Formats: sequence, C-alpha cells, structure tokens
Amino acid sequence: MTVTAVIGAQWGDEGKGRIVDELAIESDVVVRFQGGGNAGHHVWVGDTQFTFHQVPAGILSPKAHCVIGNGVVIDPADLLTELRELQDRGVELSRVHISDRAHVIMPYHKLLDKLEERERDASGTGNLGTTTRGIGPAYVDKYARIGIRVADLLDVDQFRSRLAIVLSQKNKMLTQIYHSEPLSLEKIHGEYFAYGLELRKYVIDSQTYLQDQLREGKNILLEGAQGSLLDVDFGTYPYVTSSSTVAGNSYSGSGLPPRSINHVTGVFKTYITRVGSGPMPTELTDEIGEHLRIRGYEVGRTTGRQRRTGWFDGVAGKYAARLNGLDSAILMKLDVLDRLPTIKICTEYSYKGARLTTPPPTVEAQQLCEPIYEELPGWRCDTTKITNADELPAAAKTYIKRLEEIIETPISAVSVGPKRGQTIQMK
Ligand code: IMP
Repeated sequence: MTVTAVIGAQWGDEGKGRIVDELAIESDVVVRFQGGGNAGHHVWVGDTQFTFHQVPAGILSPKAHCVIGNGVVIDPADLLTELRELQDRGVELSRVHISDRAHVIMPYHKLLDKLEERERDASGTGNLGTTTRGIGPAYVDKYARIGIRVADLLDVDQFRSRLAIVLSQKNKMLTQIYHSEPLSLEKIHGEYFAYGLELRKYVIDSQTYLQDQLREGKNILLEGAQGSLLDVDFGTYPYVTSSSTVAGNSYSGSGLPPRSINHVTGVFKTYITRVGSGPMPTELTDEIGEHLRIRGYEVGRTTGRQRRTGWFDGVAGKYAARLNGLDSAILMKLDVLDRLPTIKICTEYSYKGARLTTPPPTVEAQQLCEPIYEELPGWRCDTTKITNADELPAAAKTYIKRLEEIIETPISAVSVGPKRGQTIQMK
C-alpha cells in the first residue's frame, strides 16, 4: 500500500498531469484534492492529446478509480462537458467519482471573478490575472459558510432554499456594488438541479470510500493542482490561487488521515514559468525567455495566455521542497534547454543590500529581489531520444546534480519530451 502525493513545486504548469498519468498505472485510486477548472493537466497518448481540467489525469490508466475530492470546487457544466468528451474518446466513466461535499462553482462566482478583476484594474492596483473560472469567489463562499455543495444539488427543495438565501446576498452585491443585472433564482435553480441529476451517478461519500481503500491496502495517488508558489498561505500573496496547493492540504482536501501519506514528490521544470500577474524574480523578457516559451510550448491550457518564463529559481525551489517535505523531485523539460550555451540558476536573492535564501513575505519586497545567479555550461545536443540516465551529456548531469543540491531533494526522474515514455529514471 502506498499513498503518494504529486505536487507542483513552482507556479503551476510543471507537468503534473504527465507524471500522474505515468504513476496512475500503478495506482488503484487517483484523487484531486483542491482547485478546480483553473487547472489544465495535459497528457499525450501517442499522437493524441488530452487536457484535464477537473477530472483527475489518472483516468487514462485502465484500472484507476478517479475521485474529485471534497477540497475541489466543481463547475458542473464544464465537468459534464469534460466527461462527455472523454466518453466520446472511449474513456470508461464508471471509474469517476465526485465528492458529495465538494463545493459548486455557481454562475455568480464566475461573474464576480470577472467583475472583481475589472474593479482591481479600474482601481489602478492591477488585476490578479485569475483564470476567471470563479475559483476565488467559490472558496470565499465555502469559508463564509454560504457555499452550495454537490450534495445540495441533489435535493430540489434543500437546493432552492439554500440558493434563495445566498442569491439574495449576491444580487445585492451585483446590483449595488457592481451595477450589474441581478441573476434569476428560477433559472439557476432549474439549470443547476438538472446538472445535479446528470452528475448524481458519480456522487459518493468520498472520504469514506478513500478511507476504505486505504484499509484495503490500495495504492492511492493524490494529484495536486497549480503549484506551491500559488498557495494561498505560502505563495506570492495576493497573486495566488484561493486554495492551499501544498502537500499538507492533500489530507483535508480528500479526507485521508495525515499519517497515511508515504511519499511526496514535487514536480519542477528545468526553468520556471508563471501565468498571470505577480512577482517573478528570475523572469526573462529577452530572447532567451522567448526561446524557452517557444521550445517549451509555454501557453496556458486553460486560458490560452502566454506564460512568462525565467531561469530556475533555486530560492523558491528550496522553499517549495521544504514546505512540502519532498521525498523526491521530478524534473520536467530538460530538452527545452538543449540548445542553450549557458544556463543560469538563481541561488539567492539580493534585497536592499542583503542576501536572502528564502522568499520575503510581501509582494513589494519580492518585486525588489534581484536574483543572484550561478552559471553552468549547457550541453548543446539533443536529449529527446535518451532513455537511460548514463547516456545524458555530462553537462546535463552536472546541472541536475546542482539542482538536487539546491532543492535538497533527490531527483528521481527527468523528462526529455512531452510523450509517455520520454521520462528517464535517475539512479
Ligand atoms: P485563479 O486560480 O483562477 O483564482 O487564479 C489565480 C492565479 O493563479 C492566476 O495568476 C492564475 O493564472 C494562476 N493559476 C491558477 N490555476 C493555474 C494553473 O493551473 N496553472 C498555472 N497558474 C494557475
């Protein structure tokens, strides 16, 4: 029996979907425990590409059951579309399960996400660059104790009475603060109750199910979304997502007990990317940044936005490794660096004359941090066909070794291309 958590160790988009897909072969259950449709987990099977937003990326494994846990915020319309598309592509959906306690993203959440972003823009503070999927407003309601949960959608009267209370609050906000049109109780109630009817067959008491699986000695994989630097507590606040993205939340987002996890693996890219606003000390706005963006296909799967690119940030990397207590790390996209003559790694920040080895708490300070770089020679050859760690060029081995030292974590695998099988197991 193993319980493994796969966690993004940067600002998301590290390639977690690909790793979950590979690890799911050995797993009985794969669980998403936070976030929602803001995620875009990407898997290639041969020449076919799958992108998962809410369904765990483990669904392509022939046997793994996939749970959308209580910690996820679910957009039912988008989820039904994702499920239909998967079914059309031959994926067996009887292995999909949805927690009855997961919160539902309602139309007012998506609307408020857009209006709040517009308001931030207008106020001159600048927007957060959210995915506008309603993620933040849905988590706000969860903690304000006015959220609608999946179980509520299944009872027509209970749903109506809960919705009536919350919608009257939301309509005041929409009309009086944002001067927008009120939303119709009848329309939302009818539409979302219908979604509940369609989703009913997937809904389970997920924490009891997972606890039973644990007792039966099954292998469970916890699939993190976004990345540690977007964590609501430890990320570059307020330029973060609204959930806890670190391994510590995989328990409360799934209902598994804290001591059940045997292994935490962190996924890093050989460089770093960020989508949306917020500080990024190692950002490259020159031709190297553009090279990384093009070679790494750095375009957001959920929003189509171009990702910002930069050198590997070792300060943030070590911070993420310690926060998650990483047992191992997986390094993605080594091949993207193949053509570079030299490669830089940020090992410290310079901030107002001081040297920092951990990120400061405020965005204002983070924005003033200047990266201090170490420079290593590139390998300048194609690594995409390599299958054995011994065959890696010496300069690539040196780069990997140095990253291991910086993040204080052994690197167990390195990816050299987007396809299944382009992963080298390290010794
Ligand atoms: P939200 O999660 O939509 O509220 O967006 C908050 C911030 O997190 C924005 O900067 C988004 O671009 C970023 N974000 C959210 N989900 C992802 C993801 O899956 N990958 C990368 N960035 C993300």
